[in-house]
Amino acid sequence: MTDMRAIGFTQNLPLTDEKSFIEFFEPKPTPTGHDILVKVIATSVNPVDTGVRRGTQPPLKTPKVIGWDAYGSIEAVGDAVTLFHPGDRVFYAGSFKRPGTDSEYHLVDERIVGHAPTSLTAAQIAAVPLTSLTAWEALFEQMHLSIDDSAANAGKTLLVINGAGGVGSMATQLAHLAGLTVIATASRPETIAWTRDHGADAVVNHREDLVSQVKALGYPTIDYILELSNLNQHWNEIVSLIAPSGTIVSVTGNDTPIDLRALKQKRATFSWEWMYTKSFFETPDMITQHQILERIRELLDADKLKSTLTKTFTPISPDNLRAAHALVESNRMIGKVVITNEK
Ligand SMILES: NC(=O)c1ccc[n+]([C@@H]2O[C@H](COP(=O)([O-])OP(=O)(O)OC[C@H]3O[C@@H](n4cnc5c(N)ncnc54)[C@H](OP(=O)(O)O)[C@@H]3O)[C@@H](O)[C@H]2O)c1
Repeated sequence: MTDMRAIGFTQNLPLTDEKSFIEFFEPKPTPTGHDILVKVIATSVNPVDTGVRRGTQPPLKTPKVIGWDAYGSIEAVGDAVTLFHPGDRVFYAGSFKRPGTDSEYHLVDERIVGHAPTSLTAAQIAAVPLTSLTAWEALFEQMHLSIDDSAANAGKTLLVINGAGGVGSMATQLAHLAGLTVIATASRPETIAWTRDHGADAVVNHREDLVSQVKALGYPTIDYILELSNLNQHWNEIVSLIAPSGTIVSVTGNDTPIDLRALKQKRATFSWEWMYTKSFFETPDMITQHQILERIRELLDADKLKSTLTKTFTPISPDNLRAAHALVESNRMIGKVVITNEK
């Protein structure tokens, strides 16, 4: 059996420690069933990577491989695969239950994979899957908005809390495309400029009171609120701003309980978005992630959607993973950071 190179960790160490990411060799897997084997060309780092690394206690016997974004080329396919062929270029975010993309080859179920865009660089493509799937599912599944009916969305308001991060800069673009009025939050001149450039109609500062700022813009309430930073921190503002019968979606979770009774008089809807739900539970609609990525590819190749890549490290190595993790841990990312073997 052939071996492949992988990068992982056995314990949670500071990024300044050389052992925080180590290169090692393990058997190259063989695809069966719906799995495809992908030669990874580029990957990205998301807050989930830093969270899983920090949460790894006690030390593991074998290294854990993380990474949940990939652009690559198909090396081999399982016997039930119908959507792809060897040689196809693909992009995907992957499954929370399986080893990640920080390795030379990676197995993934075809039903959560899309054909890669053809007009973007490897790094621009790897920046996209996880954040676009999250933003798409939040807006067009959990909020039940339609990307194809801008007439129906005209005049509807969306507040994106954390507009310049990876998910926010995708959500803002998609909501703008769908015809909503988008108010996004950002706190620094560069994140404010980035957010406006990605389709926000107005920007408010998440380090100051959101309620008074949104009202000052002329919106007493907001129809849809997408929370992408810290639900506990922004909960009271969300309760105050949501319109009667409005919809709130959070992707971040909460450290202390939130009080859903606060939404009763307004009969507002609250939903979670977890990008991994479909693959984690292998839901019957898991193939919708393939369909979403195909739509995202079309939008990127038609130049209607922009990759949110802002920082590239070459090649995929322990040092470059450490550098990319440090950027994400700063909580000041604008768009996405990618590590790539191909410029
Ligand atoms: N459930 C899911 O499926 C899912 C999927 C993806 C991500 N997530 C979660 O969603 C969150 C965002 O992910 P991401 O990749 O977009 O993050 P990110 O790129 O790391 O976000 C960085 C941005 O956060 C902003 N920020 C910092 N403090 C803030 C605050 N108090 N309020 C609002 N914004 C603040 C910063 O803006 P300024 O510099 O302007 O302050 C910065 O631009 C993370 O918690 C991540 O784990 C969940």
